[in-house]
Amino acid sequence: RNVAVLLAGGVGARVGLDIPKQLIKVAGKTLLEHTLLALHDHPDVHEVVVMMTPGHTDAVRDITRGGGYPKVAAILEGGETRNDTTQRAIDHLVATGDAATTRILLHDAVRPLVTPRIIGECFTALDGYPAVDVAIPSADTIIEVAADDTIRSIPPRASLRRGQTPQAFRLDVLARAYEIAADDPHFTATDDCSVVLKYLPDEPIIVVHGDDRNMKVTEPIDVFIADKLFQLTGIDLPRAKDDAGYRAALEGRTMVVFGG
Ligand code: CTP
Repeated sequence: RNVAVLLAGGVGARVGLDIPKQLIKVAGKTLLEHTLLALHDHPDVHEVVVMMTPGHTDAVRDITRGGGYPKVAAILEGGETRNDTTQRAIDHLVATGDAATTRILLHDAVRPLVTPRIIGECFTALDGYPAVDVAIPSADTIIEVAADDTIRSIPPRASLRRGQTPQAFRLDVLARAYEIAADDPHFTATDDCSVVLKYLPDEPIIVVHGDDRNMKVTEPIDVFIADKLFQLTGIDLPRAKDDAGYRAALEGRTMVVFGG
């Protein structure tokens, strides 16, 4: 089974509203609902698990109540950090299915413009690799700095990428990496690939090409940028149940993008 986990357990401190940022409305829907739609309606996704900020799970139930999201298998509360939230999702999936045959795709709820191509390529890549990241080249030069803000190194740009989500894994591999991490008192991470990279360094992680539009709403200005991107792409795809309809809708969207 292919399970998409929607990571919506954060509070959005940097955006700084009194609601979690994934509940901000952009282009007629909350960021959470846009992202849920993108995952839910993908033909390669069989099940969706939503990890929501504690105290806000009703907001997810309000969205799924009408019956339009039959693949949503669970709505659970997230943990204190993003990695705690992932750990809870892993525990749930290991308890409810066979880890050896489950593939897990984790995606930030605050990246509503993820494309169907990216989701599809992540699952395809899992046929050959145990772990998958999504990244794009960096137009900016990335510099490494010391604690006093002096430059430590400037790695060649050609070898650098900017990591996005989704990230996808064979569930048994991700669960094992988190198990080892749990015994490390110095464990820190902000994503899931770095947990596999650090604790299971022999497992190769393949990188799938991301998309400039697949931005993360992090700071207040990103809400504005996301809104503009929705206008540009006409992203609100007609919901299509079958693969052919889905691809036709996609082609329509591509024409909107490039046709101006
Ligand atoms: N996330 C999560 N559980 C947490 C923290 C974050 O599921 N305990 C999710 C967020 O909801 C978001 C994604 O991880 O979809 C990326 O995290 P980030 O942008 O850092 O979100 P927040 O933690 O909400 O933002 P901030 O750091 O500004 O509070």
